[in-house]
Amino acid sequence: MRFHVGSDHGGVALRAVLIEALEGWEQPVLSVSGPATTDERADYPNVAVEVCRRVVEARSDGAEDVFGLLICGTGQGMAMTANKLPGIRAGVVADAFSAKMIRAHNDANVLCLGERVLGTELAKLLLRAFIDTEFEAGRHARRVELIASAGTGPGGGEQGS
Ligand code: RB5
Repeated sequence: MRFHVGSDHGGVALRAVLIEALEGWEQPVLSVSGPATTDERADYPNVAVEVCRRVVEARSDGAEDVFGLLICGTGQGMAMTANKLPGIRAGVVADAFSAKMIRAHNDANVLCLGERVLGTELAKLLLRAFIDTEFEAGRHARRVELIASAGTGPGGGEQGS
């Protein structure tokens, strides 16, 4: 995977740790967004939009190996913003099972983590689990397509197992 990475001031330290981990794992870091230090305040929605636009643009050019990694205090504000961009599927995780499942079942293309929630070793483990898990497609592909159209139709989408 190749990553566009970003954080607000609440995620600067974990961002540095995870960039180092990505480089060690030979997973290229394509860009880094957000402030250089925790003293420099940044609004997480602006960072999320900058990173996600890059991810969407790369993927629309066929680069499906391009993902986003967003870090803020909780990861939540980043995910809320990221999921507003068409084509982005972002998830916040704090456990390894969820880090795998947002790839396997939801085809997540943006991982959101909370610096104030996670220890650095756990954060690295979650990122590694995300990287190592492929989308299972099959029955999950139709559901992922339903995410894109959710709320746009009269009935709220099909039902299925
Ligand atoms: C910044 O203080 C904090 O609100 C932000 O990093 C994040 O946790 C928002 O979701």
